[in-house]
Formats: sequence, C-alpha cells, structure tokens
Amino acid sequence: MMQLDPLISLASASKERTILDLFAKDMNRAETFSASTGDLLFDYSKTQIDDKIRDALTDLCEAANLGERREAMFAGEKINETEGRAVLHTALRNLDGGPIEVDGLDVMPDVLDTLQRMRVFAEEVRGGAVSGAGGSFTDVVNIGIGGSDLGPVMATHALAPYHDGPRVHYVSNVDGAHIADTLRQLDPTRTLVIVASKTFTTIETMTNARTARAWMEDGGGDPGMQFAAVSSAVDKTKAFGIPDERVFGFADWVGGRYSVWGPVGLPVMIAVGSNAFDAFLRGGQAMDVHFRAADWAENMPVMLALVGIWHRQVLGHASRAVLPYDQRLLRLPAYFQQLEMESNGKSVAMDGSSLTIASGPVVWGEPGTNGQHAFYQLIHQGTDVIPCEFMVAAQGHEPELTHHHRLLLANCLAQSEALMRGRSLDEARQRMAENGLTGAELDRQARHRVFPGNRPSSTLIFPKLTPFVLGQIVALYEHRVFVEGVLLGINSFDQWGVELGKELATSLGPIVDGEETASGKDGSTAALVAYALRHRG
Ligand code: F6P
Repeated sequence: MMQLDPLISLASASKERTILDLFAKDMNRAETFSASTGDLLFDYSKTQIDDKIRDALTDLCEAANLGERREAMFAGEKINETEGRAVLHTALRNLDGGPIEVDGLDVMPDVLDTLQRMRVFAEEVRGGAVSGAGGSFTDVVNIGIGGSDLGPVMATHALAPYHDGPRVHYVSNVDGAHIADTLRQLDPTRTLVIVASKTFTTIETMTNARTARAWMEDGGGDPGMQFAAVSSAVDKTKAFGIPDERVFGFADWVGGRYSVWGPVGLPVMIAVGSNAFDAFLRGGQAMDVHFRAADWAENMPVMLALVGIWHRQVLGHASRAVLPYDQRLLRLPAYFQQLEMESNGKSVAMDGSSLTIASGPVVWGEPGTNGQHAFYQLIHQGTDVIPCEFMVAAQGHEPELTHHHRLLLANCLAQSEALMRGRSLDEARQRMAENGLTGAELDRQARHRVFPGNRPSSTLIFPKLTPFVLGQIVALYEHRVFVEGVLLGINSFDQWGVELGKELATSLGPIVDGEETASGKDGSTAALVAYALRHRG
C-alpha cells in the first residue's frame, strides 16, 4: 500500500502558501505543470502541486511497480485476480498492434473478426440492406444497463454532429416508464432492438428485452429479423431466440465499464458509421501508446491519477467534480461515475487486507455552464474543498454560433480562475463601499461576498470533440483509474459491491408481489413493503 508520509509532510508545508503564490514565483508554471499528447493539453498548474510534490507522487509509481503492472495489463496477464481474468479492453482498439495472448492464444484474430462483422452489420442497417418487417430501420433501441449502456449513451450524445444513421435510443432502467416512454414513439416494424448484456442475465436488461419482444410481436414486427445481441454469453443469446449471425460476442476479459470499444459500441457505430467509430478506436489506441511510452511526469493518465491521489488520499477531499463545458458530454460524468466508482470504490486490498488509506472519491458533475447556476455556489463558498476537473474544446461544431462557443470557453476559464483567485475581505469591502454601504452593514454584507480562493482545479483542453478526441479522453480516464487502482493496491476490475443488493432484490420479489410475507425482514423493510402493498392500486 502507498507510503504517504512524505506527501503528508509536503501537504502541511504547502498550507503556508497559495496557488497564486506558486504562479508568482514561477513564470513557466503553466507549462511545467501540464502534460500533453497529440492535441490534448492537461493543465494541473492550478493546484498546490510543486516540483517536490510531483517528485514524491511519481515516486509512488516506482514503489508500486506501475510500469510492470501496466505492461502486465497490456500483455494479457490475469491481473483481475479476484475473478481470475485478464484485463484487455485495450485489445479492442489494438488496430495496428501485434498479437496479444491470453492462455497462450492470440486474441486479436477474434477481436478483428468481430469488429469487421460489426462494421458490415452497422453499414447494412444504415444503408437499408438489413431491414425490419416494415422496411429499413428508422430507429435502434439499445437495451442494457451499467457498462452495457453508459458508454454507448455517452458516446452517442458526444458524437451527435457525426450522427447520420437511424435514431438511437437507450433503455436501461427496469422502471417500466423508461421502456414505455421510448417505445411509444416507435414503429415496431422498423425498429432494431439490440440487447446488450455481458452476462445476459441482468434482471433489468432481460425484463426490458422480453417487454420489447412482446411489443414488437404485438405490433407486427419480427423479432427474428429485428433483434441483435451483444454479449459474452453466446449460449444464452441463442436460448433467447437471437440468430447467431446477429450476435456479437466478446470475451470475459472485457469489463462491462470498459466495453464501449467492442460490440457494446454497436449502437454508436450504427449512429455515426464505421469510419467514425474506427477514428474513436484510433483515439483510444493513441492514448494507449502515450501511456506506455511517456515518463511519469509527462504521462497524461499518470499525472491525472496522481493529481487525484494528491487531492483524495493526501489532502482528504472526499469528492471530485467532472465539469465538461460541452453540452454533448452531458452523460460523461455518469459514465465516469461508473468507471471510477465501480472500479476504485473498494476497501480491501488485492491481498485481502483492509485498506488503510481512503478509497477512490465520489465522482460527480454536470456540463457547464448549467452547473454554474446550480451547484457551483457550494464549490466556491462551501466549507468543503471540491477539486474540479474542467474540460473544454477550443472550437465547437457550429461555425455559425462561434459567439456561443467563445462564451462557453470564457466561462470555463473564468471558473477555474475564480476558484484559484477568490475574493478577499478587503476586495469585498471595497465593492460594498462603492455600492454606498458603510459601517456595520458594510462589514456584514462584505463577509457574504468573500470567496476563499486557493481551490484546486485542472483543465483538459482539446481542439474539437471529434471521434478521435473522444477516444483519447475515454482511454485517458480508463488509464487514470488503472493507475489509481495500482497505487491503492486494489483490484479495479471486479465489482462485488453490487452483488448484495441484487441478491436481496431477488428475495424481495415475491414479498412485494404479496406472495410471501416480510416476516424475516427488518422492521423498516417490512413497514415499507406493507405501505407499498396497501397503496399498489
Ligand atoms: O451491476 C453491475 C454490473 O455488473 C456492471 O458492472 C455491468 O456493467 C452491469 O452490471 C451490466 O451487466 P451486464 O452487461 O452483464 O448486463
């Protein structure tokens, strides 16, 4: 487990100065404390990190054998030790790389073969060569949840300017409202349903898939022609009645939350076309190459991770905000929530011992500028420090609306500046005096207008949100999660913490149906069941 003592001493020394002091002392601070690859620039200079702190952080990488662990992942070793699996989502974007072996077998021929089948199918759906009972497909409904939903939803929104295929909808929640509201607007004879589930057992997905099949049959559609499946449980897709040629399989070494690069990305490929999807894969691959080659201090995923370790495990900030200034990245925070919190929300180390340092933080966020008018108040003036990760493109996709983009960019930069700079009591008093206040009222009002400042943030800036750039960003965050997991000494690739709730939901099924009593349950659960039964209508 990480030895944080040197960093904790440096953290207490850093309390003597502000981030602004660091800028005053070093003209080149922005350049020194940033990392770049391709066109992406990650600026973490608006944090308390200085040379000594960065050295101590990169020492953690050496102490944890990060280089070896990283290569073990890329080489297909079974680093997911609690499930006995390799972790090879990188193979899905290994377009020009060499062979990758798992258990002595090269996995690349299968990966590339499935990718080619996806391309053919996606283009046939887009061009109308594959169609439904009523004609070419106007709509695609992807049914999946968690990793079988969040990645493709996020990418479909993000790549809207490239969307020239059928409309794509996503149904994830077992709440019937989700599927009812989605299907209501669609023609059952011209809708393609993709059932995406790694295990093909997830209760939400299988319930929604059966509802969609009944809707299609009732509406004159043909599930035999209009269903496809994405799964690593090919026997189960057959039992569901989906023909093999419509099944896109992947191996168990692709974790759900890392799966958007493969068949789980099929709805994205249908939306934007196989060329744009290839560019997305190439973006991910470019980040892999950088991650494997760059020195720690120049390595973008490593530095993103180390900034995270500094804020969470050293300084103790319990949450971090992801703030994309891009409306099309509105689902990115939710995607990162699963990626980061399902991966690194663990309190047991790989060897079974208890973690003696904090696990990964709470990750949350919303696109700017909307968040500014909702929760930024707390980020600026609340009692807790929330490190912010801003993200923004230098240009938008709407050439006729460049003035919108200028405002967006200005707001993004203004927020990180405001967090760092703050406003002192003297400055606030001066403003109040200019407004004509005096005496006790001036003092009282001024205090409300003080911003403590010295609040950390980082900014990821890129030229434009293209498929290639999106691929780079997603792979950047995946590797950040990997690095944080290695430094914490945990397994980032299992998710046992979601099992108990699933088991209890299964046992509660017959109880909320009224078929069994709640007698074995705690008082609160029993009372809530009784209330629901009384009011179920
Ligand atoms: O409940 C958590 C989880 O197992 C996620 O890790 C996964 O992405 C999601 O459920 C969906 O699983 P599946 O793709 O097997 O339906």
